[in-house]
Formats: sequence, C-alpha cells, structure tokens
Amino acid sequence: MLLLLTTTLFSLAGAAVIQSPTVKSEDCSISATRYFISFGDSYSQTGFNISGTHPSAANPLGNPDLPGWTASGGLDWVGFMVTEYNTSLLLSYNLAYGGATTDADLVTPYAPTVLSFEDQVNEFTASLASKPDWAPWTAETTLIGVWIGVNDVGNSFYLSNATEVIDAVVTRYFELLQPLYDAGAREFVLLSVPPTDKSPLMLENNDTSETQLRGAIKLYNDLLGRHLDNFKSRNSGVEARIVDTSVPFNQAIDNPTKYGAPNSTCYNADGTSCLWFNDYHPGVAIQNLVAKAVAQAVGAPWFATT
Ligand SMILES: *[C@@H]1O[C@H](CO)[C@@H](O)[C@H](O)[C@H]1NC(C)=O
Ligand SMILES: *[C@@H]1O[C@H](CO)[C@@H](O)[C@H](O)[C@H]1NC(C)=O
Ligand SMILES: *[C@@H]1O[C@H](CO)[C@@H](O)[C@H](O)[C@H]1NC(C)=O
Ligand SMILES: *[C@@H]1O[C@H](CO)[C@@H](O)[C@H](O)[C@H]1NC(C)=O
Ligand SMILES: *[C@@H]1O[C@H](CO)[C@@H](O)[C@H](O)[C@H]1NC(C)=O
Repeated sequence: MLLLLTTTLFSLAGAAVIQSPTVKSEDCSISATRYFISFGDSYSQTGFNISGTHPSAANPLGNPDLPGWTASGGLDWVGFMVTEYNTSLLLSYNLAYGGATTDADLVTPYAPTVLSFEDQVNEFTASLASKPDWAPWTAETTLIGVWIGVNDVGNSFYLSNATEVIDAVVTRYFELLQPLYDAGAREFVLLSVPPTDKSPLMLENNDTSETQLRGAIKLYNDLLGRHLDNFKSRNSGVEARIVDTSVPFNQAIDNPTKYGAPNSTCYNADGTSCLWFNDYHPGVAIQNLVAKAVAQAVGAPWFATT
C-alpha cells in the first residue's frame, strides 16, 4: 500500500510551470482588490510560481493559465474561490505543493523535492511577508487558507506511534501559522482532513487499516480545533474558522449521480465523469463543493454563494 501511495500520489507535482503572458489589468477599482494566500498539498496545488507572472484580473492565479496545474482535472477549490465565489477581484497567491506534509522532519513526503507547509511558509516570509509593491496586502484585504494534513495522516496512520506523530504535526502546524500572524494576517480559514478513507485507494485496505485511518483523521481534526482555540487566545484580532470538509465530500459520495458520476468509487482523469480524478484525488465536483463550503464559512465581504 505504501508503494502504491507514493507512486500514485503526486505525479503532477513535478510538471513544468508554464508562464502566462503578462496582461495589464484594466481594473481600476483598486480598493476592491483582495488577496487570498493559500498553503497546502495536491488537493490545493495550482502550480503557481511566485517568481513568475503575478496574479491579475486576467488570471487571478497568476501562473500558469487557469485552471492551473491541479490534481482535479479542472479547477480546484483555490481556483473556484477566485473565479466563482469571489465578490471582487481576489488575487490568489497559492503556495500549495503536491505531496506536501507539514514538516518533512515529522512526516517524510514521497520525494525530497516536495515543499512542505514549513517550506511554503518560508517562501511566504521571503516574498509576501514584506508586503511588496506587487502584492500590497493588508490585514483587512487578506485571507489565509490552509488545507494540509492529508499526507501527514496518510503517511503515518499505520505507525505504532501514529498518535504521537499526529500530535507533533498539529503542534507544528500552529507554530507555522505564527509567522503569518506576525506579518499581519488576521483572517484565516483552515480546512479539515477529508474522509480519504472513502477514496478508491484507501477502500482497498482491510478493515483494520480503514479503522486506523478513520481514527487518525478524527484525531487530527479534533486537534486542529483545540489548537485553533489556543492560537486565537494567544493572538488578538484573529478571525478564523475551520471548514469540515467531510460535509462537501459526503454530499457527493452519498449522492454520486447528482454530481454526474455513476457511483462513488470510480475515477477518471477528465475530472467530471467520476467523483474522483484518480484513486486518491477528488475531481472537479467535490472541489467545487469544498469551495462553496469555504465561501459559506467565510462569507462577506470575501465571498458570495448565490
Ligand atoms: C520558479 O521560477 C524561477 C524563475 O523562473 C525558477 O528559478 C524556479 O526554479 C521556479 N520554482 C519552481 C518551484 O518551479
Ligand atoms: C471574480 O474574479 C474574476 C477573475 O478575476 C473576475 O473576472 C470577476 O469579475 C470577479 N467577480 C466579481 C463579482 O468581482
Ligand atoms: C515515531 O516513531 C519513529 C520510529 O518508528 C520515530 O523515528 C519518530 O521519531 C516517532 N515520532 C514521534 C513523533 O514520536
Ligand atoms: C491489514 O493491512 C495491513 C497493511 O497492509 C497489514 O499490515 C495487516 O496485516 C492487515 N491486517 C489483516 C487483519 O489482514
Ligand atoms: C462504478 O462505475 C464505473 C464506471 O462506470 C464502473 O466501471 C464500476 O464497475 C462501478 N463500480 C461499482 C462498484 O459499481
């Protein structure tokens, strides 16, 4: 199972980044420009390179061209946030990287080249933290999104010390939010680990293994809630919410035909004829439902859902 995991997981991560041509923004409503800075793994990756073309109205993801290098077959939730649910120009700085764990010293990613959440935060510190001319974000105009943990849980749930590992991972997660707060970020949305036990890949496992995985996901998500309460009490002015991603996932999994799929377990790289893009990654419909849940949780002035 481990081999299967590491080989199927993030084959998209290494894909070359294609730069889109620079396009002058025609948008003069500068005051309505907002920023969405996100961190995560393949469930969120769009292949953005911060050294490439900056986000603009023409492509709010900056580079590569929409929908980006996603693992969904089309847009993923980050793309939906900034093209579908945004209520004004919302520029995306998406540092998510396929295969990412929170900290490679705690849970080893499938390849040493993978940029962990820790690496992504370092990238933020070296680029966006100073609020450069090309991204003059402020506390009021900026939302931070984090969806990580799928690989932390997926690469550790079977270990005898899985509880200790997950505990250390979530502790590290909140240490990594601190530089974002210290740079001035106040609005946060954190996405829980979804029910990956229902992915075609994990459904191949035996009952013991499935039970371990469900337990690890529950532990991770419980800890996320508890640590967020601490983070809020340590840092004044934080607006933060957790989106329970099991709701959008189960919405589709419990009613696949409503979302264009014959059943809840098939996968297809077109991203739309099955709920899953491959055996471990949700397709476009689930990603859109996740985005909608995020839009609902965060609400105005950022997002509208109708
Ligand atoms: C981003 O682009 C720069 C400049 O083109 C390049 O040196 C760097 O390797 C790229 N980073 C990634 C992660 O692809
Ligand atoms: C949402 O973002 C897209 C892409 O930048 C833009 O075309 C659209 O006008 C924005 N929506 C609103 C309501 O401003
Ligand atoms: C879990 O066990 C492994 C060895 O099996 C060890 O290397 C690692 O440090 C342990 N992690 C934690 C957080 O206890
Ligand atoms: C279940 O699967 C795991 C992982 O492949 C394996 O180590 C374990 O022995 C299996 N347990 C049973 C009861 O088959
Ligand atoms: C789900 O649908 C796919 C595609 O039509 C099919 O190949 C597969 O057998 C179906 N699975 C089940 C459990 O019915």
